[in-house]
Amino acid sequence: MDKLIIEGGARLQGEVRVDGAKNAALPAMAASLLTDEPVYLRNVPAVVDIRTMGRLLDHLGVSVSGSRENLALQASALRCCEAPYDLVRTMRASILVLGPLIGREGYAKVSFPGGCAIGARPVNLHLMGLEAMGVALELRGGYIQGRAKRLRGARIYLDIPSVTGTENLMMAAALARGETTIENAAREPEVVDLALMLNKMGANILGAGTPRIVVQGTQRLKGVEHEIIGDRIVAGTFAAASAITRGDVLIRGAPAAHLESVLQKMTQAGACVEASAEGIRVSASERLKSVDIQTSPYPGFPTDLQAQFMAMMCVAGGVSTIRETVFENRFMHVAELRRMGADILVEGPTAIVRGVDHLEGAPVMATDLRASASLVLAGLAARGTTVVSRVYHLDRGYASLESKLGSLGARIRRERG
Ligand code: UD1
Repeated sequence: MDKLIIEGGARLQGEVRVDGAKNAALPAMAASLLTDEPVYLRNVPAVVDIRTMGRLLDHLGVSVSGSRENLALQASALRCCEAPYDLVRTMRASILVLGPLIGREGYAKVSFPGGCAIGARPVNLHLMGLEAMGVALELRGGYIQGRAKRLRGARIYLDIPSVTGTENLMMAAALARGETTIENAAREPEVVDLALMLNKMGANILGAGTPRIVVQGTQRLKGVEHEIIGDRIVAGTFAAASAITRGDVLIRGAPAAHLESVLQKMTQAGACVEASAEGIRVSASERLKSVDIQTSPYPGFPTDLQAQFMAMMCVAGGVSTIRETVFENRFMHVAELRRMGADILVEGPTAIVRGVDHLEGAPVMATDLRASASLVLAGLAARGTTVVSRVYHLDRGYASLESKLGSLGARIRRERG
């Protein structure tokens, strides 16, 4: 298993480019199932989750080709409607093929998803919505089987604004008969990007980005060319890397409009943040100040940046309270940060972080995708050598993070194993 070896203490400086958002590209790829015409996606990030989705679609009979950040997908005729455990166990977003498959073929069998171990992460809302649209469900042997002759529009209220839940239902509704309303829908920019793409394919979706999405179903969708939005979570990670090393980094392609809550907290922590058409420039010349955060669905502070922000707070002046409200078990990075000398107390969904003068390099283990990023950030700021193992978690969502950080002056290398 690969490891990252980081010699801490280097100040990051220069420019870095943010790729397309993994969490926007994954549903966009799944949407290719909705049409037999070609779907061209641009600005797709070269991360493992995208390869996993490509393999899953290929298994279903979609032709997947392309080079670098361009993908061409065509689901002329599907070979099968089953997403097997072996393919989906590493990636929860595999559930995104459920809605499109039932919408197109009237049948799907999808393994219950795996992915990061950050809480129970059920899919009950996806299933409840599909049932409301007329899907007969059967849950057996770790698989979800859904059948429907033709989906019908429905009024659906989501107890929690689930991101992939909203996306799955939006895709299914696009091919349903009649109107579907999704109340308490997720408002994430990735949901908006998917709605935009589906509308270009001939769907009729209104309200994406608000808590009420209304979809007028149609019989047929056509091919499309679509450019994926920039990755706000990767951009936020680079912003934190710059701030924690008292660096000065221009993050090109960073979608500032999607990062308002994060940039505001960065500014309150004492970083200098300048957003422009080019991207976001983040610099810090002094020790950061402690700031409290609470994660919540968009436009709130993203849970996917909580761990990275915590790394920053570990070395900030003062005491910071970090409350995680989206996932119930998303503090696995705490034990690892403590190994580096962080002073963190966890009480239920709240972490109290008392900033220390400095962190010490140590061997640490990545436990999930975003937790891995927080350990890399801590390593960049620490004295001495940090060895982050199990970086396959990191590779799921960050494309060549070490070479990008290296180009900014970080002393970081990968040891293959
Ligand atoms: C997506 C993102 C992930 C991010 C998360 C929250 C993708 C591919 N992944 O994940 O990076 O961390 O949004 O911003 O876009 N829930 C239920 N029942 C359901 C579905 C969700 O109770 O049927 C709960 C979850 O347990 C969690 C909360 O809703 O507590 C939010 O989860 P959700 O928005 O669904 O996350 P994902 O879409 O899986």
